[in-house]
Amino acid sequence: MRKLIPAVGLLALTGCEIPSEFLQRMEVQSKYEYYETSEFWADGRAMRTPPEGTIPREAKVGNPGMTSGRVNGALVATIPVQVDKALLQLGQKKYSIVCAQCHGTLGDGNSIVAENMGLRLPPSLLELSDRPAGHFYTAINEGYGVMPSFSGELDTQERWAVVAYVRALQAARGTRAGGENLPQENR
Ligand code: HEC
Repeated sequence: MRKLIPAVGLLALTGCEIPSEFLQRMEVQSKYEYYETSEFWADGRAMRTPPEGTIPREAKVGNPGMTSGRVNGALVATIPVQVDKALLQLGQKKYSIVCAQCHGTLGDGNSIVAENMGLRLPPSLLELSDRPAGHFYTAINEGYGVMPSFSGELDTQERWAVVAYVRALQAARGTRAGGENLPQENR
């Protein structure tokens, strides 16, 4: 198919007519239209009822703000999914794959990419600990300034996992073994 696409482009440029069976196959193939009858199904309807529990793609699922990072337009303050060790481990993995090359392994903005970027440098995420959780989620989900969205690389759970890991990096900043801000069992 890949090889055919340039050929089709050429045909279009030269004004040749593209055989309709080549491009229009889906339009002319036999298929059911809305509300048509069907002998295949016992109830005679071509349109099927979606399986129980099906929800529209656009439906809001989970806790408020989980899919968008906002509730009534305002950024969510805290992470709306359960933060546990498994989530942090997922976040660490995804952060190191998707974010670290720019924002640095520690989140401090020190990276090879940053050193060689001219336009606008990836900022240190450690300076942003006062920003609400939704700020990080929406940056990942929608993009931020020149940074593109990474919603194609990370699903909803993975995005929050990365946010949770960024929070962990922020909390770990400047912490020494025995540090007061560590939970008692980790000192
Ligand atoms: C290709 C490099 C690159 C990658 C990869 C990248 N970022 Fe960014 N990020 C940037 C740059 C550059 C900016 C600043 C954009 C601007 O100000 O226009 C930025 C901005 C941000 C901001 C907003 C900072 C602020 O000032 O409020 C957040 C949050 C952020 N990135 C998080 C992430 C997370 C989380 C990931 C991984 C999912 C990620 N970024 C991946 C380059 C990158």
